[in-house]
Amino acid sequence: MATAETSVVVPITDNGFKPPRPTPSGATIAIFGASGDLTARKLMPSLYDLWADGYLDDTAPIIGVARRPKTDESFRQEIYEAVNGHVRAGQISPEQWAKFSQRLYYHEIDISTEDGYAALKQRFEELEQNLPYKGKRVIYMATDPALFRPAVEYLSNVGIVPSRNGEEWLRVVFEKPFGHDLKSARELSRHLKKFLREEQIFRIDHYLGKDTVQNIMLFRFGNSIFEPLLNRNHVDHVQITVAESLGMERGRGGFYDKSGALRDVLQNHVLQLLGLIAMEPPSQFTAEDLHTEKLKVLRSLAPGHPSDIAKWVVPGQYTAGLIDGKPANGYHQEDRIPPDSRTDTYVAMKVFVDNWRWAGVPFFLRTGKRLPTRVTEIAIQFKLPPLNLFSTVECEGDICDLVGARPNTLVFRIQPSESISLSFSTKRPGMQYQIHPVTMDFRYDEAFTQKLPEAYERLLLDVLRGDSTLFMRSDEVDAAWKFVTPVLNYWNNNHVTPQPYTSGSWGPAGADQLVWTAGHNWRTPNAG
Ligand code: BG6
Repeated sequence: MATAETSVVVPITDNGFKPPRPTPSGATIAIFGASGDLTARKLMPSLYDLWADGYLDDTAPIIGVARRPKTDESFRQEIYEAVNGHVRAGQISPEQWAKFSQRLYYHEIDISTEDGYAALKQRFEELEQNLPYKGKRVIYMATDPALFRPAVEYLSNVGIVPSRNGEEWLRVVFEKPFGHDLKSARELSRHLKKFLREEQIFRIDHYLGKDTVQNIMLFRFGNSIFEPLLNRNHVDHVQITVAESLGMERGRGGFYDKSGALRDVLQNHVLQLLGLIAMEPPSQFTAEDLHTEKLKVLRSLAPGHPSDIAKWVVPGQYTAGLIDGKPANGYHQEDRIPPDSRTDTYVAMKVFVDNWRWAGVPFFLRTGKRLPTRVTEIAIQFKLPPLNLFSTVECEGDICDLVGARPNTLVFRIQPSESISLSFSTKRPGMQYQIHPVTMDFRYDEAFTQKLPEAYERLLLDVLRGDSTLFMRSDEVDAAWKFVTPVLNYWNNNHVTPQPYTSGSWGPAGADQLVWTAGHNWRTPNAG
């Protein structure tokens, strides 16, 4: 029994803890759109890392599917160049690469016509001969979203979609964007459901694969001290920021100009973060219960009145400026951007979650390109104490003020410098009761020796395991589009021009106004 002298000390670091060797998962993995950026930058490095960590079977075939002519050998070489040095494992030895790459193949087809699909089926069957997971397949749609509909139809026509009751299975992963607005998302869902069941459809939002995002649930529901405070009685307001300093690099302009910040990041990543921070505890930690709780939040989103959209949503577009001291183009000067484009590269909004827990608490959301730094965080600001008993003199130059307690703020830093911190007031040493703000910090890199996995690693593994917890259910996607579509329509119908902001600044003046009129200020997160 533990006594005062022998009390158990729980280490605050993981002391080099190594998880047990996992049981490897396997299936035939086909990546449609294998010549694209996502395959090289994210999917292949993640598959390599999964394999290197023992999560992916040694023999599981990985087939790149695309239109350009390539051989298996040239595809392997291309993937080596993409993966070597980009992976968590660092430089890959020739032996490791030989072991990994022997199951990489390339299959050339035009995904947009049915002609090549029968040959693809044959290729699957040839490669799967003598493998333990014959007919167990994952198809990753890393293509132009316009191809989602025909591709699924053709897969079904040639019999690649197995029947419900057999041993074989097929899971299809869809990269975002899943639809362009409410109507197109619904049409896409309706079409896919003619050929696939919901449990076969994996709609990716890679933010859900980030370890720090998953930790929001563990922090909230695996501890008892904070959860009772997360409601309208104690919380003053919440700020969610997804900021990027990047602009239209890697030729993204063509795609981005048709999308914009509201569609590209707010509709999915920001609303998913909002769902996780605002949802009720699920009764069990299962995919269905979690989806349902998040869905309730998305359905409770109460924006301002539709006729008043300009009062609660502010679109912005960057102009030339400085990023890290270096000159950066304005949006209109970027490659593949029409000089009169009205696309939003920034959006800020004030919304309420109209339910019992959160009624009356404003949630301020913002995301944008060419902001001063890349940072994603959720900051929950609590109410001030009811009486101002303590204060201190604070001076800026010659001007001094009596300052009271600052509000406690709980900050989930999703990236970079991943951490959770809580700010509170303490007494400054001395003979007077002078108040001083400090923080209590938990930093991942100090507490754990293990590196955080890439979001795509976790998500690919979940697909192999058939776990859809970290993917979006169709009704969640629907609810998110239902919320943002009136804003898109309003901008479109009224030819709204986004407010300019200088590259390297924190966004347009109207976004400041949005929080000031509610009596607040945006936080200024640093790169950490
Ligand atoms: C993608 C968006 O979904 O998320 C990009 O399409 C954005 O425009 C990216 O840059 C941000 O992801 P991360 O993981 O770098 O924060």
